[in-house]
Amino acid sequence: MNTRMRRAAFAVAAGAMAISLAACGSADEAGDNDSSSSAPKKGDDIKVGLLLPENQTARYEKFDRPLIEKKIGELTNGKGEVVYANAKQDASQQAQQVESMITNKVDVIILDAVDSAAIKSSVQKAKDAGIPVVAYDRLAQGPIDGYTSFDNVTVGKTQGEALLKALGDKAKDGQIVMMNGSSTDPNAAQFKEGAHSVLDGKVNVGKEYDTKEWKPENANANMEGAISAIGKDKIIGVYSANDGMAGGIITALKAAGIKVPVTGQDAELAGVQRIVSGEQYMSVYKPYAPEADAAAEMAVALAQGKSLDSVAKDKVDSPTNKGIPAVLVGVTSLTQDNIKDTVVKDGVYTVAEICTAKYKAACEKIGLE
Ligand code: BGC
Repeated sequence: MNTRMRRAAFAVAAGAMAISLAACGSADEAGDNDSSSSAPKKGDDIKVGLLLPENQTARYEKFDRPLIEKKIGELTNGKGEVVYANAKQDASQQAQQVESMITNKVDVIILDAVDSAAIKSSVQKAKDAGIPVVAYDRLAQGPIDGYTSFDNVTVGKTQGEALLKALGDKAKDGQIVMMNGSSTDPNAAQFKEGAHSVLDGKVNVGKEYDTKEWKPENANANMEGAISAIGKDKIIGVYSANDGMAGGIITALKAAGIKVPVTGQDAELAGVQRIVSGEQYMSVYKPYAPEADAAAEMAVALAQGKSLDSVAKDKVDSPTNKGIPAVLVGVTSLTQDNIKDTVVKDGVYTVAEICTAKYKAACEKIGLE
């Protein structure tokens, strides 16, 4: 079931659930929430464990981590402490990082899972130790207390629709290649589902890959394989699930002398610059500040034993738990036309950061000055 369907299903059950929630006095339907149902136990002096999945995709160190740290500081009058660890794509290392957080006696964990199924037992361990867990961006399995992300099926649809727009009436004149994300990331499955829902029947998919660990070099190798299998004259476009992989894909395309529309996601600076120069067709701009802020708000509320009702208006289901309080932020298709109205307007990058010497002429050409 996609997020929208889950939400619709939830709406039907919402009335009944509201009553049962009121009766048990807990904001959490995802499991027995011993930690947040008790009276407030902490003030501003909380310790928050922050676990991010990798550091090759720019967003984690450049946006997610600093934004979450800043918001935790604001919400706790500078008294909250963030203990940070990055798993660098290693699921077992992330399990150990959860163990350390438990030993370290953090009050709450914000977790962006490398492998959403494998981390389930660690989530349970945290829970058993009385530490609530907020799933960040990727919905980890197990007794999660709150979730913040984007509508990830819509992200995939946005990418697919943009690719169709770029191909126009030539959409069936050749083959496209689909480069999906990692099979351990539930978001990747949702991006793929959304993209297929708009592309199927409208294009021919010559080759499709799930990319191990979301790595740009793996996308590059898969693209080289696709070029030799399909033939360079027959490829008319590439669906890439994110900007990091788009970088690897475009390197392979260039080496073969191919120039076709390529999608992306994350509005990474390198991706935005490739959009300016016309090497990449689009990205999906996901405003990280509201996502990070919601995670920080949930984490502080949970650590202080407060309900999530005022923060989390949505509910989602994971394969193991139902009705998890959630915040899902909207996304925008980013092309040459709206760089100014999105990432520049929101202060993500200045025009000077995007339009370095190498991109100056291209920036002028699209009116980005
Ligand atoms: C995130 C993307 C990111 C990808 C690779 C996904 O779960 O939603 O923003 O590009 O992981 O890290």
